[in-house]
Amino acid sequence: MARKPRETFGSRMGMLLAMAGSAIGLGNIWRFPYTLGKNGGAAFLLIYVIMLLFICLPVMISEYLIGRRGGSNPFRTFDRLAPGSRWRWMGFIAVLASACILSFYCVVGGWSVKYLDDACSGRLMGYEGDYAQFFGSFISSPWKPLAYTLLFLGMTGLIIAFGVRKGIERMSKIMISVLFVIIVLVVIRSLSLPGAVEGVRYMFVPDFSKVTADTCIAAMGQAFFSLSIGCGTILTYASYVHKDENIAASSAWIAFFDTAFAVIAGLAIIPAVYAIALMNGTDPDVSAGPGLVFITLPGVFQSMPLGGVAAVLFFLALLLAAITSAISLMEVVVAFIIEELHRSRMRAVLLSFVLCGGVGVFCSLSFGPLEGFRLFGLSVFDFFDYITSNIMLPVGGLLLAIFAGWRLRRANYLDELTNGGSLKLPRWLALTIYYLVKLVAPLAISLIFLNCILS
Ligand code: TRP
Repeated sequence: MARKPRETFGSRMGMLLAMAGSAIGLGNIWRFPYTLGKNGGAAFLLIYVIMLLFICLPVMISEYLIGRRGGSNPFRTFDRLAPGSRWRWMGFIAVLASACILSFYCVVGGWSVKYLDDACSGRLMGYEGDYAQFFGSFISSPWKPLAYTLLFLGMTGLIIAFGVRKGIERMSKIMISVLFVIIVLVVIRSLSLPGAVEGVRYMFVPDFSKVTADTCIAAMGQAFFSLSIGCGTILTYASYVHKDENIAASSAWIAFFDTAFAVIAGLAIIPAVYAIALMNGTDPDVSAGPGLVFITLPGVFQSMPLGGVAAVLFFLALLLAAITSAISLMEVVVAFIIEELHRSRMRAVLLSFVLCGGVGVFCSLSFGPLEGFRLFGLSVFDFFDYITSNIMLPVGGLLLAIFAGWRLRRANYLDELTNGGSLKLPRWLALTIYYLVKLVAPLAISLIFLNCILS
């Protein structure tokens, strides 16, 4: 049977937006603001940017480069680049890690569908009680969150079923463009509230007293998670990229977009929380944890003029961001099933849906009926969140850096980075990237880990 040629992205813009779509997600809107809030505001931002430049960006470039050179799913890519070695199992673990992330990601994706639904129907703004209770009774009920989780996963699968160009690329282009417009509108609303400037100050004036060893691991975990690196997502998307693409420039753009978006999402949320707290004479609670977006914000929208519109826009933005990321996670699993288990795209989507949906159900139930069930002292949801972001992704990044720096030959690395010498990338820059990957990234990641284990 003749094999169909492998799909590719249709245009450079489409590729950039699909990758940005993968990077920009719940990590930016839901996770970043509360992690920033917990870890000393601007001090965290500063550490985050340093980690990004010296560790995460070089790792991202390497994952991109490995993916394009291998031209396949993570498992086969490592097998092609290091034939017969154990590295292909690292590729397999990357596929598993993506499935684990998707399993808890789709639960929060489901919450955003529910909130959008309630914001549109007026139920959210019309609610008269305490939003902690609104949220709590929703996530702890047995059936409703399950239905939303599977609905979200179903929408994700539907997009992927259309393929790389017609599904992933086309939808990412539309969704990310709409997302940018919406979030700018919400930022304008948030910043124009009286007292918002206090929130801005909080974001940009550093408080170093809150910085500990944990801050560093939190910043690193957040950067890996937000850039979608360490578990084969960028690698898989990169396998659909043309050979003449400038890898370093594309990676830098995506990292820039992603960070800018996280800061913008912070500006949409934190100043509004401050302004409304000031108005009501309460303490602004920006370190509220995962509940920030789902508990604190609805109250903020309720107290501000035009809040109903802002709520619809905000939760639509949250949903769009979540979907473009979820498709990139599912595509890792789908590409693996298509290429290694030789199933059609449609079947691969169904299989991933069943697999991730199955685990997702347990993650969702861990807020309700399964609350008492603990894995290493954590609920199922927290367990998946913790082991993926704080362990699997950094370890994945570490291994990627070791592979790129020590297993690939230097000449091959530089050759791929400069597209066989046809790109005018200054030699000092190419070498700097190479040595950051070979020496700095592995050392820094290991040190941060050690520090965390010892403290
Ligand atoms: N980066 C996405 C976000 O910020 C989530 C995501 C998509 C991801 N693909 C990933 C995280 C791969 C880690 C690894 O929400």
